[in-house]
Amino acid sequence: LLLYKGAVFALQHFENGIPEALEYLDSLKSFHIRDGDIFIMTFPKSGTIWMQYIVSILHENDHPDLLEKPTYFRVPWLEYLRPAHKIDTRESPRLFCSHLPQHMVPLDLQSNRAKIIYVTRNPKDILVSYFHFSQVLNTLETADNLDEMLENFLSGKILGGNWFDHIEGWFNNKDKYDILFVSYEEMKMDLRSVVMKISKFVGKILSDVDIDKVMDRVTFKNMKNDVKANYHNSVQGNVLDSSKGSFMRKGTVGDWKNFLTVAQSERFDQVYKERMKNLPVKVIWDQ
Ligand code: A3P
Repeated sequence: LLLYKGAVFALQHFENGIPEALEYLDSLKSFHIRDGDIFIMTFPKSGTIWMQYIVSILHENDHPDLLEKPTYFRVPWLEYLRPAHKIDTRESPRLFCSHLPQHMVPLDLQSNRAKIIYVTRNPKDILVSYFHFSQVLNTLETADNLDEMLENFLSGKILGGNWFDHIEGWFNNKDKYDILFVSYEEMKMDLRSVVMKISKFVGKILSDVDIDKVMDRVTFKNMKNDVKANYHNSVQGNVLDSSKGSFMRKGTVGDWKNFLTVAQSERFDQVYKERMKNLPVKVIWDQ
């Protein structure tokens, strides 16, 4: 992992190590935005692959050549783009996702030529999801226990960096972008409304039947069984150890209650209260 400008990146994506990573990450500031580009922005474990899949389904007619590709190829990570993605020759609208903090994204995103969908999730569930995921993704450091995981989370020593900085950066600068905020919990509680909201935002008109079809394909169960959607055996060969778990772990709201002790939860709340006091973000902790 590479800590750079307050964010943490997966170094294995850069063949020549740190110098290449720094140069590439800096170059993203001047990344050329095309009219209509769509970006999904998230902190890791917030439901990225869920939103990637939904948005890619909405654009299947625009990219018939990518239909056989897994979602992570159809909606590649901006910070880990490779020549094979051929993004310069892709039809518009191009789809991207990213875990970048607001201060590191392409400046041109502020021209309002692109649309951004930012997915939030309650951070205690992110923490628990990350704890399990770090055992699956070989390149992530694994915390020995939840106490250690909690401290790593609160101090930003995990992929993506500090969750509080991430959300603060995006919320405080939201007026600079054409941005839609959606929460994981909202998706769990009323997916239909979210799909309708997203399709409207990206300019797609869907019939009720179309919406039903999208909703059916993106259920937890169906994505878990769909190798192109669930990233099983993906993310660059053997980096993911599927014998230890999956991107599609549990998919619920409030799972943190099954893992965090009262003391751990209170420690979290203490930092949360201080860091979030000026942010108009409403978090749903349980369903
Ligand atoms: P859990 O580990 O809590 O199960 P990301 O894609 O940002 O890494 O987020 C992964 C989290 O989103 C995992 O959470 C995963 O189960 C959940 N997720 C992915 N697809 C989902 C779906 N269709 N419905 C509900 N949760 C989903």
